[in-house]
Amino acid sequence: MTRSRRTRTNLVHGGTRRSQYNEVSEAIFLTQGFVYDSAEDAEARFIKAGDDEFIYARYGNPTVRMFEERIALLEGAEDAFATASGMAAVNGALTSMLQAGDHLVSARALFGSCLYIVDDILTRFGVEATLVDGTDLDQWRAAIRPDTKAVFFESMSNPTLEIIDIAAVSELAHAVGALVVVDNVFATPVYSRALDLGADVVIYSGTKHIDGQGRTLGGVILGSKEYIRKTVEPYMKHTGGSMSPFTAWVMLKGLETIDLRVRAQTQSAGAIAEALQNHPKLAGVVYPGHASHPQYDLVQSQMGAGGTMLAIELKGGQEESFRLLNALEIIIISNNLGDAKSIVTHPATTTHQRLTEEQRAELGISRGLIRLSVGIEDPQDLIDDLLQALEAV
Ligand SMILES: Cc1ncc(COP(=O)(O)O)c(C=O)c1O
Repeated sequence: MTRSRRTRTNLVHGGTRRSQYNEVSEAIFLTQGFVYDSAEDAEARFIKAGDDEFIYARYGNPTVRMFEERIALLEGAEDAFATASGMAAVNGALTSMLQAGDHLVSARALFGSCLYIVDDILTRFGVEATLVDGTDLDQWRAAIRPDTKAVFFESMSNPTLEIIDIAAVSELAHAVGALVVVDNVFATPVYSRALDLGADVVIYSGTKHIDGQGRTLGGVILGSKEYIRKTVEPYMKHTGGSMSPFTAWVMLKGLETIDLRVRAQTQSAGAIAEALQNHPKLAGVVYPGHASHPQYDLVQSQMGAGGTMLAIELKGGQEESFRLLNALEIIIISNNLGDAKSIVTHPATTTHQRLTEEQRAELGISRGLIRLSVGIEDPQDLIDDLLQALEAV
């Protein structure tokens, strides 16, 4: 890998493998398998495949490998394994390292499917899970035990945008030898310093900022070469959660522009947060990059920027929220994030509908809370759209 080059260069050239045609744009090797020159060659490859020797697309593929190398360069990780979705990455990272009798500590504020893996699937197979308020270091301290094997959390929570202190939690986990697994989707790989801060494993849903244009589902697990190739790869290749070559190509092209997109989206998110401050219809605006965020200093030291997501709290409830959503003319109603198109979501009735009212209250998800993923449109148009929609509330 070309480590000495800077990030923006690596995002365009990193991991590139050219075929005999010397193509400019990376090729999609849309093939499930590979031809061996001889029976002996096939046998040798099954015993030990070299870095550029492939066997079967579930095990690896040249286009997928290009994506893995490029994202590993961006994250500063030794290696990466690309997965069929973000959830395949979360499941693969945790299930491949845990076994019956192990103890896992996880932040409670998790995306619903992540919570299902931690609290339903893993516990069914004999892993004990303790859930904590991830922003409260005393709760981590109390929950982490000598037999804790891993800790898991989303570094920025969905949708309330609370930040978990990666360095502090890593210190507590490493004191008992537990591995630190961070779902870093909201922070984005552009602003990630998770490995430097102590995380052992970083996970992304590529469906978000990495694709960045709402086309494909995908994910990635990043960590040491030893963990990725000895722990994750055997689990993924035998259970079928690998990324398809077509998806890898889309994500590879997404990486070329991710730095430009995410920085522009972040700048717009900051402008929107500023424009909506003290709006009479709003009870609050949560933006990690705004000085009003209660963890602003931590955001600055951990990410250096506020990211692409905002949460706005209306003074009213669901009726007022729906009126706002329905009045928007540019910003679309959907549930993805990190897209080029700005997207609003009403978490209480969609992404977090399955939680009880009590669980939602505990996580701060009121019926007046709206999540906004800021896209790459002109920021003034987005501000104008939000202001005119607020008039309708
Ligand atoms: C924090 C977080 N982790 C994981 C996922 C799962 O990603 P995917 O939908 O690609 O499976 C999501 C998706 O919304 C998410 O928001």
